[in-house]
Amino acid sequence: MIQTLATTPFDGQRPGTSGLRKKVPVFRQPRYVENFIQSVFDSLEGFAGKTLVVGGDGRFFNREAIATALRIAAANGFGRTVVGQGGLLSTPAASHLIRKRGAFGGLIFSASHNPGGEDGDFGIKYNIGNGGPAPEKITEAIYGCSRTLTRYLIEDLPAPHLDTIGEFRLGGMIVEIVDPVADYQALMETLFDFDRIRALFAGGFQITFDAMSAVTGPYAKRILEATLGAAEGSVINATPLPDFRGHHPDPNMVHAAHLFDLAMAAEGPDLCAASDGDGDRNLIIGRGLFVTPSDSLAVLAANAHVAPGYRAGIAGIARSMPTSQAADRVAAARKIPLFETPTGWKFFGNLLDAGLATICGEESAGTGSNHVREKDGLWAVLLWLDILAARRQSVAEIVRAHWTEFGRNYYARHDYEEVPAEGANALMAGLRDALPGLPGKRFGALTVAGADDFAYHDPVDGSDSSHQGLRILFEDGSRIVYRLSGTGTAGATLRVYIERFEPDPARHDLPTAEALAPLIALAGELAEIRRHTGRAAPSVIT
Ligand code: G1P
Ligand code: ZN
Repeated sequence: MIQTLATTPFDGQRPGTSGLRKKVPVFRQPRYVENFIQSVFDSLEGFAGKTLVVGGDGRFFNREAIATALRIAAANGFGRTVVGQGGLLSTPAASHLIRKRGAFGGLIFSASHNPGGEDGDFGIKYNIGNGGPAPEKITEAIYGCSRTLTRYLIEDLPAPHLDTIGEFRLGGMIVEIVDPVADYQALMETLFDFDRIRALFAGGFQITFDAMSAVTGPYAKRILEATLGAAEGSVINATPLPDFRGHHPDPNMVHAAHLFDLAMAAEGPDLCAASDGDGDRNLIIGRGLFVTPSDSLAVLAANAHVAPGYRAGIAGIARSMPTSQAADRVAAARKIPLFETPTGWKFFGNLLDAGLATICGEESAGTGSNHVREKDGLWAVLLWLDILAARRQSVAEIVRAHWTEFGRNYYARHDYEEVPAEGANALMAGLRDALPGLPGKRFGALTVAGADDFAYHDPVDGSDSSHQGLRILFEDGSRIVYRLSGTGTAGATLRVYIERFEPDPARHDLPTAEALAPLIALAGELAEIRRHTGRAAPSVIT
């Protein structure tokens, strides 16, 4: 029976770019999940009898939140929910299921790479029918509904057990529990030459893929080991755990430092890779060579045509503004457009839907294509494998050949985490005021060619986004970019992105810190980082 229960609004149920993210104890308050999900449905129209895809990254509270969501979806009139077995769906797999089933939308339960567990983070994100994150006008409507909510509708029958594959009735709605991997794997088999990758592994190629005790474990086990023949044990931390074994499921040089050490060993695997909590980020390290996400985007874009799914070539490349300009050189050489968007995957959706871009990427370990509307960690690993199998070269050989052909964009990101917001804002304001005076100025060997506060005009829907980061561009192609993080939870995080272009292959083997040293020093001086943040050095360098 459908119950209508009275409620009162909670403060702060405003979804960010990646949905509503809060600490687990906040989500566990009575009516908190109910209120938010009812607000999502109240902001939408026309879903009666339609399909909703539901799944999460398996973190603590995943099952409870999903059970509640199913009962609310049934009471609100959805005809069918498609749920990953055990409540699991990686974010890209959820995006694919929404598209494949022609669903009205989907609910993804995840806080991405944030820590999990009882005191960790939790999140709920709504994705629309194209499989991508809801645009701002929908997330703002959800927030609006959450502020005036007086009741929610809930089916008083219990939700079906999430572990049994099959169809179950919940009031007037069908709950279909599906294998979370099967459809995603079938999609990957259309994009990549699985026989060629199988032959690569049969020839002794070694991979270590760290699923970080998060959602990609079952996907990687099935695809890499069971289907493609990677040696058993190639996938480590393969069981999704509610607390990710107490680790931070973020595949970067800090939280996956052990993979770096493994890849640098003389007898290390040919490829070390990892994904994050919900499976959309990726880390790629070849034996002896870490591939920056910006370089990875450029290499994948330059070589994608070897994979069956991209044989016809790619229509265009899109990268977020702070991502290095390595991809721009590929786009120029191939005479295809390059789109420079603000930070965040949501800006790629329109370009992908319109067929303007095929491959997209961000410097923050996100790469993907038009196969779904989210970034996709395992997709990036499989495309690398297909390229390695086709070219019969090592990761290091492919990357070095790429630098020789296109030049090398030395690149680093310096994060100053949790600095006082006041100082961070003052730094940005001071620098913004100084921008008009910079062009033409010389700093040692560097001459400023241009400086601006990045703004984006979406060529598809005509929308404008301003204040997306401060750029200082130099005549030799070097660049310093400053922006404040939009995903932090405490204080402010200043991100400084530093890049230098080096065309000469004889100078492609410098340590990054050395290659960038003059720019790093200048980045500190121009923005007076020490004075504004009180920090002499960044907290994280990636
Ligand atoms: C960070 C990354 C950005 C990514 C986002 C969500 O955002 O920099 O590229 O899209 O997380 O994963 P930021 O904290 O910089 O706003
Ligand atoms: Zn993620």
